[in-house]
Amino acid sequence: MLEARPVPTPSPASSPVSLAAPPDPAWWRGAAIYQLYVRSFADSDGDGTGDLPGVLARLPYLAELGIDAIWFNPWYPSPMSDAGYDIADYRDIDPVFGTLADADAVISEAHALGIRIIIDIVPNHGSDQHQWFREALAAGPGSAARTRFHFRNGLGRSGELPPNNWQSIFGGPAWTRVTEADGRPGQWYLHLFAPEQPDFNWASPEVRAEFEDVLRFWFERGADGIRIDSAALLTKDPALSDIDGPDAAGSRPSGSGPAERAHPYQDRDDVHEIYRSWRAVADAYPGRVLIGEIWLPDAARLARYVSPGELHAVFNFPYLTCAWDAARLREVIDGTLALHTPVGAPPTWVLSNHDVDRIVSRYGRSKTSFSLQARDHSQPVDLALGTRRARAAALLTMALPGSVYVYQGEELGLWEVEDIPAELRQDPIWHRTSGRDPGRDGSRVPLPWAGPEPPFGFSPPGATGRPWLPQPAGWREVTVEREAGDPGSMLELYRRALRIRRAEPALGDGPMSWRPDPDGASGASGASGASGVLAFDRRAADGGGDGAGVSCVANLSGGPVSLPAGAEVLLASSPLDGGLLPPDTTAWLRVQGGPAAG
Ligand code: GLC
Repeated sequence: MLEARPVPTPSPASSPVSLAAPPDPAWWRGAAIYQLYVRSFADSDGDGTGDLPGVLARLPYLAELGIDAIWFNPWYPSPMSDAGYDIADYRDIDPVFGTLADADAVISEAHALGIRIIIDIVPNHGSDQHQWFREALAAGPGSAARTRFHFRNGLGRSGELPPNNWQSIFGGPAWTRVTEADGRPGQWYLHLFAPEQPDFNWASPEVRAEFEDVLRFWFERGADGIRIDSAALLTKDPALSDIDGPDAAGSRPSGSGPAERAHPYQDRDDVHEIYRSWRAVADAYPGRVLIGEIWLPDAARLARYVSPGELHAVFNFPYLTCAWDAARLREVIDGTLALHTPVGAPPTWVLSNHDVDRIVSRYGRSKTSFSLQARDHSQPVDLALGTRRARAAALLTMALPGSVYVYQGEELGLWEVEDIPAELRQDPIWHRTSGRDPGRDGSRVPLPWAGPEPPFGFSPPGATGRPWLPQPAGWREVTVEREAGDPGSMLELYRRALRIRRAEPALGDGPMSWRPDPDGASGASGASGASGVLAFDRRAADGGGDGAGVSCVANLSGGPVSLPAGAEVLLASSPLDGGLLPPDTTAWLRVQGGPAAG
């Protein structure tokens, strides 16, 4: 039986704790990273919104879960027009979440528990309440203050039309007209997202210097990594030319010819200069990493972001959006490895996040893929099937080579809350599309910790505020209290998997090789994936440990499959059936004679 590394006991609050994380400069290559959405994690003061003291109190839960790092969604002062992705001050904490001292306490206590901290920086846009934007409004057309953003005169006889045809990613035009100091309608400013999120002008040296300084600020405070929001959108065509065709809303065309490359704001060549400078900043602080949020269908273009001297890693959106289908997953996994291997960057594996439907619901629908452009909450959901598949997907994902992300609540098997009343919805996507797009609130509902009814321990007894989004009554079955210690629960599956993954040198970073389908029932190539089964071997790159390695077999076919002869099952997502691996089940195996010999 594998032994997990012991979890260190938290140090008492009074002891002096270093802000620095334990040394291991390559920690990120195989890390398990927990995405923590502060406003929905744990509410310490009873106002219905999660906060940093709430996180501090629950750090032992995360240590016990077995994760290596936490990625915090934005925690800065913000009017919360886009749940904190509209930042008014990049060097402070929003009072609803706490103070800088609370952030320091979370960082140092997490470090004492062996957990690293990744924070979210939003460089494409700020908030309309950011000091720079207020200065720009006050200073008027032609001022230096306006060059930090994209201000332009409008078209039409009296400037009443937006400067170009770009559409906001959240719906509606990407331009808003301001009222000038004299009370007249004036210039327009660009916002690729909501009007409260004006885009910074990355051609401005001041903008560049400011963000490098913000990186240093957080590295000095002990942050171990930065998640870079909307990382491919920063630089714009200086002419701000119209987008041709129906795609004014701007998802990058799938080709990579010169015409597509010249997209006026997606993945422009000059964005890479920014990340080369950021990398130089990060490299001055050992062990610090940059992780890009980049939605690009073109693998070759994506690879440029993780080439030497740029970002350490990028999120794997092709994997996140892929259907529960062995052949499709095999294609995405191969594509991911082909992209990362030549540049030496570790892949990342992500099943869900705060922008997409929760995986249990997705896998319980007839259409199991996900698209940002086509969220659909009208389909029936089979939660039992979705949960079974989510369990199998968790083991598949955690066995793949590289780092893995767990979005809070995924470890409890939470489902998408699809029936939030319109008046309680917060997401600008819902509001800006008049509810045509259900938006992202359903994946952001506060966590259920304990007890039979809302707020399920999310807020303390006697709380004055209700959870900021309503929790479904059915979550009584999936609280931490209910799941802890139940060997059949999602929580215990994640705990066991993460502990094995951490203790086993073959898992995490390192090579993998596909096995032939166990039943030999595959197509002409005999390749894993062809008959609905994904099977691969992991062996430590340096032959570390006992050299035995681990094999993973995921059965996405309609019938049971046999396992390699002599396999010892380390962990399975559902019980085996007479020695066979049932449908929608994944198993981790120790195969006699080493992984390749089964
Ligand atoms: C990213 C974030 C998303 C946010 C958007 C605008 O995609 O993940 O939540 O709304 O950027 O900042």
